[in-house]
Amino acid sequence: MFANRCLAATAWQQVTRQAPRQLFKPAFTQTPSRTYATPSNEKVAKFKGQKESDGKYCVTLIEGDGIGPEISQSVKDIFSAANAPIKWESVDVTPILVDGKTSIPPEAIQSVNKNYVALKGPLATPVGKGHVSLNLTLRRTFNLFANVRPCKSIAGYKTPYDGVDTVLIRENTEGEYSGIEHVVVDGVVQSIKLITREASERVLRYAFQYAQDVGRLKVRTVHKATIMKMSDGLFLRVADRVAKDFPNVVYDSELLDNTCLKVVTDPTPYNDKVLVMPNLYGDILSDMCAGLIGGLGLTPSANIGDECSIFEAVHGSAPDIAGKGLANPTALLLSSMMMLQHMGLTEHAEKIQNAIFKTLAEGKTITGDLGGKAKTHEYADAVIKNL
Ligand code: NAI
Repeated sequence: MFANRCLAATAWQQVTRQAPRQLFKPAFTQTPSRTYATPSNEKVAKFKGQKESDGKYCVTLIEGDGIGPEISQSVKDIFSAANAPIKWESVDVTPILVDGKTSIPPEAIQSVNKNYVALKGPLATPVGKGHVSLNLTLRRTFNLFANVRPCKSIAGYKTPYDGVDTVLIRENTEGEYSGIEHVVVDGVVQSIKLITREASERVLRYAFQYAQDVGRLKVRTVHKATIMKMSDGLFLRVADRVAKDFPNVVYDSELLDNTCLKVVTDPTPYNDKVLVMPNLYGDILSDMCAGLIGGLGLTPSANIGDECSIFEAVHGSAPDIAGKGLANPTALLLSSMMMLQHMGLTEHAEKIQNAIFKTLAEGKTITGDLGGKAKTHEYADAVIKNL
């Protein structure tokens, strides 16, 4: 899949050079209008999928590049052994050009739109100018507006921090990632940070709803409204307003620099909070939190959209170990647990999750990145034994 994308790069570069702005569509043009009048009992991003006649949910599977197929196989084997009511629909997301624009193949789009949910392995982005990240294309195609990143210490894997349990929700569609950049004069460029009330409200409402759903009844916005008075100021004003619809959730806000200092000093006071923030802050802070628990190899994530949601490991395609059976599938597995929870299959999620944590805590059959010697399939077999 990755090789095909490299071949397609020339055409791709032409597209991005000719019409860079066409790739960006502000969030407020992508979705039906959501206003403050939204009743608080209307669930944002509710899973709409139904079981099929065989009693199973169909889930789109994007195996991805590099180690993607290997770690996806582990997920499939463990789900099958756990009798999870899931059947997989594998799709290829190698991009195509439609009317001169980079697009996801229609079969893949149809599959995700039909199933409302997908599990995704890592997708490699060629290094160099002109390549659009396929991950960004997927986010834009399905308007995945909230990126949920929990980071929880894993028993058996020692890091300098114990008892970490952070949850961070990042606005995923605008802010500094809007892609609006231009040269003013030679040597002077401008990059525009776009914040809209609509996209802010959507992610904030989701954060409060998430807090309620998981019983973590404190929401904190992280911002820099002291400097970016208008953009972050708008985000904060929307938060104040949305908070009124969730009277049982305690709401406050904190400056980004304070949050960074406090989290690396002692992350445990954040164990009862859901942090929500604009795009760039969320990108950086979530990787920092991943570092507290041992890195990206153990960190799951969810990309939540109004219609569809895509669950993925945070790490990349690890080309250095691809095809060698050395990859750790834990992050993709934990992402698939978030997916089961999103689908309401909490019992299956708990059963599999307990087996994963037991296997890691035993420490006998763990992969090289965690200091063990097990191959990917041996680790998956150990999880299956612990089910
Ligand atoms: P990477 O995350 O693929 O690898 C960094 C290091 O971590 C490597 O040494 C790798 O072997 C190790 N590693 C990563 N995942 C592992 C796992 N599950 N088990 C054991 N070891 C693991 O980051 P890198 O090298 O910067 O990116 C490689 C490619 O992946 C690039 O093309 C990049 O664009 C893409 N990427 C895709 C992402 C996605 O699809 N969400 C996220 C990050 C990068």
